[in-house]
Amino acid sequence: MCGIVGFAGVRQAAPILLEGLKRLEYRGYDSAGLAVQSDGKIVVSKARGRLSALCKLTHDGADIDGTVGIGHTRWATHGEPSYINSHPHMSHDGAVCVVHNGIIENYLALRAFLEAQGYEFVSDTDTEIISQLLAYCYEGDPVEAVKRARGYLEGSYALGILFRDRPEAIYAVSKDNPLIVGLGEGENYMASDVTAILKHTRRVFRLNEGEMAVITKDCVSVTDEYGMGVDKTVTEVTWDADAAEKGGYEHFMIKEILEQPEVIQKTANPRIVDGRIDMGLKRITREDLRGVDNICIVACGSAYHVGCVAKPILKRLCRLPVSVELASEFKYADPLVDARTLVIVISQSGETIDTYHALKEAAARGARIVSVVNVVGSTIAAASEDVIYTWAGPEIAVATTKAYSAQLIVLYMLAMYIGRIRETATREQERELIAELNALPAAVARALNDKEGVQYLASLYYSSKDVFFIGRNIDYALALEGSLKLKEISYIHSEAYAAGELKHGTISLVEQGTLVIALCTYAPLKDKLVSNIKEVKSRGANVIALANEGDEDIAQVADHVIYIPRWGQTTMPSLAIIPLQLFAYYVASLKGCDVDKPRNLAKSVTVE
Ligand code: F6R
Repeated sequence: MCGIVGFAGVRQAAPILLEGLKRLEYRGYDSAGLAVQSDGKIVVSKARGRLSALCKLTHDGADIDGTVGIGHTRWATHGEPSYINSHPHMSHDGAVCVVHNGIIENYLALRAFLEAQGYEFVSDTDTEIISQLLAYCYEGDPVEAVKRARGYLEGSYALGILFRDRPEAIYAVSKDNPLIVGLGEGENYMASDVTAILKHTRRVFRLNEGEMAVITKDCVSVTDEYGMGVDKTVTEVTWDADAAEKGGYEHFMIKEILEQPEVIQKTANPRIVDGRIDMGLKRITREDLRGVDNICIVACGSAYHVGCVAKPILKRLCRLPVSVELASEFKYADPLVDARTLVIVISQSGETIDTYHALKEAAARGARIVSVVNVVGSTIAAASEDVIYTWAGPEIAVATTKAYSAQLIVLYMLAMYIGRIRETATREQERELIAELNALPAAVARALNDKEGVQYLASLYYSSKDVFFIGRNIDYALALEGSLKLKEISYIHSEAYAAGELKHGTISLVEQGTLVIALCTYAPLKDKLVSNIKEVKSRGANVIALANEGDEDIAQVADHVIYIPRWGQTTMPSLAIIPLQLFAYYVASLKGCDVDKPRNLAKSVTVE
C-alpha cells in the first residue's frame, strides 16, 4: 500500500527520496512522486507506473536541486492510477504540498466546502483536499495550520507536508496510519516504514496519534495535540539491513521461503524455557487464562488462514470453543466477545486497518487481547494488551511465507501454553510438542530440498486456467492458504474446498484436465481423501496429491504425489505448507509474473 519517505539534511534530497521509495516498492503501488524545496518554491515530479519511470524522468533525482523533500508511492484508492492522481499534491496556490497514506472519509464534504470558497481541484483524490485545506487554514504558522486542518479531517492519515514559506522543514502527523521518524547526524528522516530509511539510520521513533513532528536537518521537535512538547523514546532497530536485500536470489519470495527453517527456530527457541513453553505474556496472567471461557481469533488473508489451522489445535489442547473471524467482518457483526474471551489478533505487518479495527472493537467489549505480530512497535502491537512477536525478520515479498510459518509456530505454542495452564493439556503433550519444535527446522529444510520436484510439477501445470485445492480438517485450512498463494501471485483462478463439500456443487466444474491439488496429510481422514481423489479423477481431473512419506497407496490414485516427512500431528502444517508455497512461486515465475509485487496488491493494507 502507499509508502512515504521524507528527508531534511544537507545532501541532495531527491536521490535519497528515490532510494527510500525503492525500499518501499514491495508494499505495492501504481505511481510515484516526490516534492523538493528548491529555490523558494516546491518542485514536484511524479510519474505513473513503476518507480523506474520517475527515476528516468528526474535522471535519478539529479534534475531536482534541494535538500529537503518528501516522496510517495501510491496505491490507488480514490481515482485511477494516473499522473494527476499521484502524490505529492500541491495546494492551488503552490504554498503547501502533501503526501498521504490512508483515507479521508469526509473528503467529498470538504471538497464541496473548499470549492465554495473558490478552491479549484485537479485530481480525483482525497489527498488533494488535505493540501487545499492546509492552504485554507494557513495564516503564516504551519503548526497552527496543521492543527486547525486536523480538526476538519475524518478518517486515517499519515502525512508528510511541505510549506513553501518554511523551506527547511517537513511537518509530519499521523492518525491510525504508521509514521516513523529517523534520526541521523546533521540530517533527519521520516517514513511510513522503517525499511525506507534503514540504510541511513537505525535510530527511530514512532509518531503516536495526535502528535506532530517538525523535522529539520538539525532537530526534530514533537508536540502533542495540545501543543505540549513530547519527549520521545528512541528505539535502535536491530534488523540487519541485509535481511531486507535479495541476497543473490531472483525474488524475495524464494529467499523468504528458504529462510523458514531459521525463522521457525528463532520464533520457537526463546519460548522454550527449562523444558517448558513460556509465551512471556506480561499483562495477561495465568489466572486470566484460567478464567477465559472462549477464544476468538481475528485476522485477514493468510493470517486468517493461520487461525483456521490453529482452531482445531486450540480446541484439542484447551478444550474451549474457538472461533476464527475475518477481521474485516468482525466489527460489523455484533461480535459475541466479552471479558471472558481471549482474542488472538494475528498480523504480520501489525498495520492492517481491518485487523486493528477488530482489535479496538474487541477491546471495547472488554475482551482480553493478545496479538501475534511480526513488525515490532507496529500499531496493532502497541494497541494490544500483550504481544507475542514472530521473529521472521523483514518480509518484503507481498505474498507472505515466512511470517505465516512463524505465526503457526506461535499458535501451536500458545495453544499448549494455555492448555497447560488450564490443565487440559498434559506434560507429556508439552514434551512431545517441544521435541517436534526442536526437530522441525531440519524437517522443513528437508521438505525444501525437494524444491526441484515441485518446480517440475509447476512446469507441467503453469498454464492451468483453474485449480482446485481440496483437503479435510487441517488439510482444508492449508488448502485455503495454498490456493490464496497461487492465485495472488500467478493470477490463476483457484479455489479451496473442504473435500467433502465438492459433491455439493463444485464438482460440476471439474472436467478433463482440471488441476486438483489434494492434501492428504491429515492422517485420520486420509482414506476419505482417497475417495475424493477418485471422484475427481473419474471426471477427468489431473491430481497432484500431498501426502506423508510412506503413504504409497496415494500414488495408486493420484497422477503425482509430493511426499513430506511423516510428522507429529500438531506441527505437520509447517511441513505441508512448504510445497504449496513452492508450487505457487514456481508457477508464477514460469508465467513471468511480478512475483514479489503482484498486481493490485499491497504488503501493508492500511485502508478498509
Ligand atoms: C497473502 C498475504 C495477505 C496478508 C493479509 C494480512 O499472502 O500476505 O493475505 O496475510 O493482508 O496482513 P497482515 O498479516 O500484515 O495483517
